[in-house]
Amino acid sequence: MSERNRSRADVGIFGGSGFYTLAEQAETVEVATPWGPPSGPVSIVERSGLRVAFLPRHGPGHRLPPHRVNYRANVDAMRRLGVRALLSPFAAGSLRPEIRPGEFVVCDQLVDRTWGRESTFHDEFADGPVHVPFAEPYDPALRRIMLEAAAATGVTAHDGGTVVVVNGPRFSTRAESRWHRDAGGHVVNMTQSPEAPLAAEAGIPFAGIALVTDYDAGLDEDPDVEAVSQEAVFAVFEANLHKVRELIDASLPALAAALGPAGPGAGTVSES
Ligand code: ADE
Repeated sequence: MSERNRSRADVGIFGGSGFYTLAEQAETVEVATPWGPPSGPVSIVERSGLRVAFLPRHGPGHRLPPHRVNYRANVDAMRRLGVRALLSPFAAGSLRPEIRPGEFVVCDQLVDRTWGRESTFHDEFADGPVHVPFAEPYDPALRRIMLEAAAATGVTAHDGGTVVVVNGPRFSTRAESRWHRDAGGHVVNMTQSPEAPLAAEAGIPFAGIALVTDYDAGLDEDPDVEAVSQEAVFAVFEANLHKVRELIDASLPALAAALGPAGPGAGTVSES
């Protein structure tokens, strides 16, 4: 490990350190990876006895569009820090009337509609074939911890749901949106893939927590519901960021209990 990669963390979060108050002391580390630099420096804070590492996936100032994020570097940076659980809060459009803006979906399935992204650590099978299982893209134990945290904080979180990951950066047409819903989708987003499959390849239990910001291209049930705009997504996300913070904060004691102390032989949160 290089000098720059000496830091360690227990839990990784793909989100800005803005989740925490500025008063808190964060250690900032640059993590080098063979895949190039991650989206930005990683901020590490101590919470509930855990070292929690934050990496804003779109980089400082949200400069990286979803199809340009170096997901391999981001996930590998977390792996190099030694995280044993990865939380991935993300903004999402709802495909169904009962899933409302301001609510959460603790996803249990994913449909990948992205293309042209570097989405594997195994571009060459130098040491033989590697096909990771991905039937369950989200870790069940982590999901349960997030749902219990939601119940404890009083935020509305739907237990399970399929996220359809679109390439972006444009939003979907009405026809695409309808199609995604008819295919079984609950929410739509632009970043869960390849974040989730790379976490699977890295062997890190992963949770995708959707914060619903809009109704995507609108709702067939209600013609008055407007199609999503960038302004609406950012405004609703900002207005509900405190809920993401509360949810993560509330999950940390249970995560600490599930993970146990760091060190050789330390466990991950996964039951399997
Ligand atoms: N992120 C937030 N809202 C979205 C939408 N409607 N489509 C794709 N990504 C999103």
